[in-house]
Amino acid sequence: MAQGNNSIKKVLIVAFSLCIVCSVIVSTAAVALRPAQQLNQELDRKTNILNVARLYEPGTDVEEAFRTQITSRVVELETGEYTDEFDPETFDGFEAARDPATGRTLSGDRDIAGLSRVENYATVYLVGDAGDPDQIVLPIRGQGLWGRMMGFLSIEGDGNTIISITYYDHSETPGLGGEVNNPRWQAQWEGKEIYDEEGDLSPAIRLSKSASGENEVDALSGATLTSNGVTNMLQFWLSEEGFGPYLAKFRSGTELEDADNTDTDFEDGEGA
Ligand SMILES: Cc1cc2nc3c(=O)[nH]c(=O)nc-3n(C[C@H](O)[C@H](O)[C@H](O)COP(=O)(O)O)c2cc1C
Repeated sequence: MAQGNNSIKKVLIVAFSLCIVCSVIVSTAAVALRPAQQLNQELDRKTNILNVARLYEPGTDVEEAFRTQITSRVVELETGEYTDEFDPETFDGFEAARDPATGRTLSGDRDIAGLSRVENYATVYLVGDAGDPDQIVLPIRGQGLWGRMMGFLSIEGDGNTIISITYYDHSETPGLGGEVNNPRWQAQWEGKEIYDEEGDLSPAIRLSKSASGENEVDALSGATLTSNGVTNMLQFWLSEEGFGPYLAKFRSGTELEDADNTDTDFEDGEGA
């Protein structure tokens, strides 16, 4: 009998059945948990946007605060105009970058942020009156020392003065490059100016070892490579390749053509 249970055939049947049962359990769990994961990712994104806009405090009802205080718009980067081609609630910059119809390849010299491909459209988040916002929150991303860094930059409605910066996803070393999320370092950004000349689309803002003036922030000590990554991604996203044309409209006071948002979930879709 014992001999029978230890036969190779039975051992293989038990092992195979166990594999099937386990893989069904794991696959079912992965599929069942996906909606919850997506909800959490979405909540995290909104929390970070509220955080960089200084609208988040522990205990804040994130969904409610986001719904009542933030208006999302998709911008065509080349023209700096809003577009109604995409729903800002679902528009995904990464997917858009990969798609030849909505993204483009960056050649060597132009790819200062190490992106390889970039989307032609991006979602921006407006605080206050969407037509004359108090704040504009922009998504930024680029290569750090160890990998891609993803963050948000909030700017005053003048399209030039920085309010705050935050990174919600990066793999920089805690205590070195990871200091990008140190509140003391982040505090230096408030009031810094992106451009130093009116009408200029080349950003002047940068990290520097001996920061002085309105366009410089202290580099992270012992983390020159991460600091270079932060400078490069800001130089990219705030230039003509990124949000330069969009921000230029705020800087010059040009009225933006509002996109038709009737198909989207906006609460306050008044003219921008
Ligand atoms: C384990 C380890 C982790 C590091 N992590 C970072 C990092 O996250 N960001 C960074 O810029 N440099 C990091 N460095 C240091 C870089 O290799 C390099 O020495 C540094 O960027 C030079 O900066 P400094 O000129 O300010 O000293 C790390 C070094 C080691 C050994």
